[in-house]
Amino acid sequence: MLALDDVRVSLAGHTVLRGVSFELPQGKTTVLVGRNGAGKTTTLRAIMGIVPLTAGRVTLDGDDLTARPDHARAGLGIGYAPEDRRMIPAFSVEENLLLPTVALNMPATLTRERLAAVYELMPELVDLRGRPGGSLSGGQGKMVALGRALMVATRAILLDEPFQGLAPALALNYARTLARVRDLRGDLALLVTESSPHLLKGVADRALRIERGEVEETTLEALGRHD
Ligand SMILES: Nc1ncnc2c1ncn2[C@@H]1O[C@H](COP(=O)(O)OP(=O)(O)O)[C@@H](O)[C@H]1O
Ligand SMILES: [Mg+2]
Repeated sequence: MLALDDVRVSLAGHTVLRGVSFELPQGKTTVLVGRNGAGKTTTLRAIMGIVPLTAGRVTLDGDDLTARPDHARAGLGIGYAPEDRRMIPAFSVEENLLLPTVALNMPATLTRERLAAVYELMPELVDLRGRPGGSLSGGQGKMVALGRALMVATRAILLDEPFQGLAPALALNYARTLARVRDLRGDLALLVTESSPHLLKGVADRALRIERGEVEETTLEALGRHD
């Protein structure tokens, strides 16, 4: 299991995370809800090893990841879809899906298996696979970002505000896809950040609230009252 234990992060002299602790159970979707600037992205970046911790630990099955370089996270089976999707516009959707496997030097047979599994889990990507990344709509791009995270994920997926900017029908479609990933990939722990709780009905098994760099367990109902 992936876990944060008293994680503290300071950036440019400001304390951004103030002792964050939580666990991400496998087969469940955990949502991390908080306003802009609360520390959601920094939490994901801390898990990924992109920002240094000033204290605390990120562990996978008790194994301390803090000392490992950030690129090791993907090799450990943690897929990450950042806020900005960072797709390569001239590459096809399939080439974009394959990017993290190239970085990991993944063997060709495993890459083919993973790609087939992603297409099975997200059939909407099959029709898009030859299209240039730059020609996709926002909603399609989010799907590719999820597929790309799935290419490396064997343990966890971290999605940073995937609903942001999606029209309601597309948000609903995305939520259905997330539910499908959760239901069919019981090996994965999902962590989804969001600034507004009303999009998360039907997605969240468990809710965490982040406020000024502090995280506490809550419920979607309680979050809705503060919306
Ligand atoms: N690289 C950085 N340098 C200095 N401050 C940062 C940096 N990144 C984020 N912050 C600050 O940390 C706080 C949390 O940011 P962030 O994690 O991006 O929040 P969220 O994703 O919830 O909107 C904000 O006050 C932001 O200004
Ligand atoms: Mg953010």
